Amino acid sequence: MTDAFVSENKNNGLEGVKLGMVKIAVLGHGVVGSGVVEILMKNHEGIAHRAKEEIEVKYILDLRDFPDLPYADKFVKDFSVIEKDPEVEIVVECMGGVNPAFDFCMRSLKAGKSVATSNKELVAAKGQELLQTAQDNNLNFLFEASVGGGIPILRPISQCMAANEISAVAGILNGTTNFILTKMITENMAFDDALRLAQNLGYAEKNPTADVDGHDACRKICILASLVSGKHIYPDDVYVEGIRNITLDDVAYAEKFDAAIKLIGLFRKQDNGKIQINVAPRMVSKSFPLAGVNDVFNAICVVGDATDEVMFYGKGAGKMPTASAVVADVIDCVKHRKARKYLYWEPAEKGMVADYHEEVCSMYMRLNGKSSEEIMTVANELCRECIYTDGVNEDEIAIITDVAPYSEQEKIAKTFLARGINVVSAMRTLKM
Ligand code: HSE
Repeated sequence: MTDAFVSENKNNGLEGVKLGMVKIAVLGHGVVGSGVVEILMKNHEGIAHRAKEEIEVKYILDLRDFPDLPYADKFVKDFSVIEKDPEVEIVVECMGGVNPAFDFCMRSLKAGKSVATSNKELVAAKGQELLQTAQDNNLNFLFEASVGGGIPILRPISQCMAANEISAVAGILNGTTNFILTKMITENMAFDDALRLAQNLGYAEKNPTADVDGHDACRKICILASLVSGKHIYPDDVYVEGIRNITLDDVAYAEKFDAAIKLIGLFRKQDNGKIQINVAPRMVSKSFPLAGVNDVFNAICVVGDATDEVMFYGKGAGKMPTASAVVADVIDCVKHRKARKYLYWEPAEKGMVADYHEEVCSMYMRLNGKSSEEIMTVANELCRECIYTDGVNEDEIAIITDVAPYSEQEKIAKTFLARGINVVSAMRTLKM
């Protein structure tokens, strides 16, 4: 019984079935590109079964030489070899950065080849042009791996949740910053030490700006927001704040409020039809699942009018999780060679992104400079309803203000200052 079961499945039911062959090219043999080749070789038969065609990597584009690899003969240095080869039907772009990735993807599409990419920078900056070119040529441009690595998120939003009006998306979209914040929260490690550890473990780059200053998370929330809103949203139109200024005192106050500090990419449809989108550290109540997402894990909460909150959780980076999403796109390209998959958004619309001052939120504020009683008297005057906690340090308290537009919260902070009360730090909270 067992033997029959094993042997029956060893070939995934493909015995006697004559499958066609699809040839692909992989641009870039770095972490993700090499993972793509590895999965395609390791799971070759299962993938063929699911794609209903065998998938063969014909070329790998990289400027470096890899003479010791068993597939060393597949490497080329000149993109035009791939561009001009009519046998190559799908191009996988894993180079990163906008240039020359954009040029190569455009040329691939114009040469009649579908494209799958893991490149969030490219999709956030040039997604609309690439989607348009794919549509014009009846091809696919797919990028599941660009947000959340191995977490299925773009397909679920565009297909499984297609019946919904999606009102909000909030995500922990960057593993490096989540690792740093987790170390600060659970081990009382200062930001600089946690960053150094993240660098030593290979999570953070030597120049960690894209991660710690929020730009990586910004690209990802832009892709999600473009998908949900149907219009391209550019990173330059998004307010971004990173985690460099978070202190262990802030972490301790969050604990007192039964919350955790997380870097959140947020998209929300405002009542006036505009889109509120920003990236900022936020105090997240521990009653909300995003607060419990730790280490390098990512998670995304999507709010649909029919489904209500739906959560996606998993590894947002790394060789095999990211390559898994890229290969799934390749399989989809193979299965939709004749019928294009519907994934598209229109060009940006001027004025559709709201100013970040319009966001309605409550704020954590850490206050000192006067006695606790005096601070509380002023706070009660300025806010309709404040939540207080006593100080982590002497002669200090922290409050969570009532919800109000961010512009109002700024006025409250200025009034504290005018009354001789220092706002030592301030941070948005997250309410879905
Ligand atoms: N630097 C990114 C992160 C990698 O830390 O999440 C995945 O995009």
